[in-house]
Amino acid sequence: MGVFSVLRRRWQRLAVASVAFVLIAFSILSHRGDELFAQQHYPAAQHEFSSDTPLIWKHINSSTVRGGAFYIPPEWLSPSTPRPTTMIEAARLVSQLTNIKNTTHLIDNTEIPLVAHQTWKNTHVDTWPDLIRNSVERWMQTVMDTPMAYFLWNDDGIMEFLEEYEPEFIDHFSALPRMVEKSDIFRILVCKYIGGVYGDVDTRPIRSPATWIEKSDLKPWRDNATNILYNSTKPVRAIFGIEADCPPDTDTYWRMGYTNPVQLTQWALASSPGHPALTWFMQKLYSIIDEVASHHGGNLTTPQAYEELDYLEPLIFTGPDAITVSLRSWLEDRIGLRWNALTGLHDGGKSKLADDIMILPITGFSPGRGVYGNMGSKPITHHDARLQHLAQGSWKGFDLRVEFGKVCRTFFGLCRDWPKS
Ligand SMILES: *[C@@H]1O[C@H](CO)[C@@H](O)[C@H](O)[C@H]1NC(C)=O
Ligand SMILES: *[C@@H]1O[C@H](CO)[C@@H](O)[C@H](O)[C@H]1NC(C)=O
Ligand SMILES: *[C@@H]1O[C@H](CO)[C@@H](O)[C@H](O)[C@H]1NC(C)=O
Ligand SMILES: *[C@@H]1O[C@H](CO)[C@@H](O)[C@H](O)[C@H]1NC(C)=O
Ligand SMILES: *[C@@H]1O[C@H](CO)[C@@H](O)[C@H](O)[C@H]1NC(C)=O
Repeated sequence: MGVFSVLRRRWQRLAVASVAFVLIAFSILSHRGDELFAQQHYPAAQHEFSSDTPLIWKHINSSTVRGGAFYIPPEWLSPSTPRPTTMIEAARLVSQLTNIKNTTHLIDNTEIPLVAHQTWKNTHVDTWPDLIRNSVERWMQTVMDTPMAYFLWNDDGIMEFLEEYEPEFIDHFSALPRMVEKSDIFRILVCKYIGGVYGDVDTRPIRSPATWIEKSDLKPWRDNATNILYNSTKPVRAIFGIEADCPPDTDTYWRMGYTNPVQLTQWALASSPGHPALTWFMQKLYSIIDEVASHHGGNLTTPQAYEELDYLEPLIFTGPDAITVSLRSWLEDRIGLRWNALTGLHDGGKSKLADDIMILPITGFSPGRGVYGNMGSKPITHHDARLQHLAQGSWKGFDLRVEFGKVCRTFFGLCRDWPKS
């Protein structure tokens, strides 16, 4: 065979691949576009909205508190308790009411307070996309039924929170180029200082968080590669869920867009206030941002510093990879955990307590995944399912390069290092 025909065949293959690539990308693009359009340009008519989602109308849209909205179960309060008038006053009160020395307002079988935190730009519920309105309504329903305390923090509320709890972080925080990074960090900080459950506004609780941890979740478990028994009897002080569960010795995980074979999600997490693993996460974050600052004379507000921060990929900087890497190093250091032992692929997906951190199987926070990329995820009706994640971030925006990267990894096994978010 001549050089030319080899070349021609190579070009033909490349051309076919490119056409397929463009078609697939285009179909994803147009589909996504419809979704965004439907969600953002046709907010529900008001009458429909107040009858479909009465709780968020009552407790969120009507909030007169700058910084967001909160709910404290009336039965937690005595008639003489002064009613809080700001988010911070409410947060302080809830911290007292859920103090472990004082209370039974905890998630069963844990030391985690019965509080839920969410965040969205504003409390004008009638401007929210349908999916988010319906999901937050579900949270409110669960909050009332449990009962538990609830906070919706808006952008002002997040700044008030930082001023109160971690003022030295404000400059770092304000320098971050992306809202998604700020939201990634806020969830860690709110759990670190107030404690409770954080859930993205596109998640829905399937079971009340009060019942997320049962006695059977606390059973000892064994790493069958090392035969080590993990039999911690410590009280549960943090809960994380597996987002991706892939065989570690294959390329499945990165072709699906994950950076770790066993990766944690951060669309939901829970902890007691003051959990040191969250402090550890923050220390690592400080050191990355301080490093950037040091390249620019300590000034994070220069255009060059902005550019450098902008270059960091959110998934790795503050997102699921950052959480996974930090929890992995924390638990390796603390109890010598072999991280990949957390997989549920060999034991039907058991909950695994490591030190005082409960790692839920993929079904915990990511039930009902499709056949492709199922990774052991059982249906949302399965008892192991605690919470569902709906939007997969599609409402957050759309980036052509990210979508191309996704198609390229999934179908061709290339583009491993393209941006994923
Ligand atoms: C929600 O609040 C906005 C102002 O914050 C108000 O204009 C709107 O009427 C409220 N929605 C309903 C259904 O009352
Ligand atoms: C216990 O709760 C009361 C209010 O109900 C509060 O005044 C007190 O400070 C709390 N104790 C602790 C240790 O938080
Ligand atoms: C662990 O156990 C499962 C089934 O019990 C088995 O399929 C798997 O290969 C085991 N893994 C190792 C590393 O021994
Ligand atoms: C946990 O297992 C170790 C051996 O791996 C054993 O020495 C220890 O007594 C066990 N602890 C409990 C609380 O069962
Ligand atoms: C940091 O850089 C910005 C923009 O270049 C400048 O306006 C500001 O004064 C600088 N701050 C300090 C403390 O040097």
